[in-house]
Amino acid sequence: DLLAASNAFQRATETAQHIRSKLPDILQNPKVAIICGSGLGGLADTIEYEPKVALDYGTIPNFPQTSVVGHASKFVFGLIGPQKTPVALLVGRAHFYEGHTMDAATFATRVCKVLGVETIIVTNAAGGLNQDFAVGDIVCLNDHLNLPGLVGTHPLRGPNIEEFGTRFPPLSDAYDLDLRKRAHNAWRKLGLDKTRKLHEGVYAFVSGPTYETRAECRMLRTLGADVVGMSTVPEIVVARHAGIRVLAFSLVTNSAVLEAGPRGDDPDIQAMNEAQLNVHLAKGKATHEEVLEAGREAAKDMQALVKQILLDLYEA
Ligand code: 6GU
Repeated sequence: DLLAASNAFQRATETAQHIRSKLPDILQNPKVAIICGSGLGGLADTIEYEPKVALDYGTIPNFPQTSVVGHASKFVFGLIGPQKTPVALLVGRAHFYEGHTMDAATFATRVCKVLGVETIIVTNAAGGLNQDFAVGDIVCLNDHLNLPGLVGTHPLRGPNIEEFGTRFPPLSDAYDLDLRKRAHNAWRKLGLDKTRKLHEGVYAFVSGPTYETRAECRMLRTLGADVVGMSTVPEIVVARHAGIRVLAFSLVTNSAVLEAGPRGDDPDIQAMNEAQLNVHLAKGKATHEEVLEAGREAAKDMQALVKQILLDLYEA
């Protein structure tokens, strides 16, 4: 286990070499990578220029295999915008809850580093904890709670890999201020502020795969989290270790359990009729279906946002 993690630079280099052997010259040096969350991979279809190369994760040496049903997991290389900026899109990611090690969950990010990527934009679907966040809103992350990491399941645990970065990297500046400003400006420029809100907020990373209980949601809210999800933070930690600039967005696909549920401060349960009682007891239940549905609706705006940020970043 120790050995596997400590040769990550060699493995990433080997994988990057393989990938480069499949790419035409013009796609060899992506400056930006975009990690697409559940239902947010549509960005890959908006790449209008040739050449465009899609590599299935299954064909890439050392790449972890992900088990998302009905979705091709692929690494897409193409050109975006009038500047024809080379970008790399990761459609599908290896999650910790699938049983992947932290090393596997962050491997693609390290391959991006070896490919020369300087900026990573990470997207995910998350549950809303902040009462001001509606389903379909987007949150520009400005901080995180790495809950598994704080108690020992940390992607940088193990021998430090000097080729990537230092032993004790800071994370106080993990969410790049300039990129966040660009995000809010792009949102306004696109007129999306009339459709839905772009918030700033704190992401709590939990291992999953269960959604949170009501008590866990109250705990996370008390700890300062605005959204909760099962991805993103491992990749961001490894990206920051390697000096990659980070911008991250959560799409609020459902309200994590917000209602208090049956506690002492609840309305009088005995006074409820059966229908009222049924509604009350089921409050705030998160389902995978509502996550997918909200994702479909808001995904286009999220994609437009990411694309506009890219255009602005590389405009002449
Ligand atoms: Cl409510 N919780 C977690 N952990 N992940 C989510 C979610 C909730 N909604 C989407 N992803």
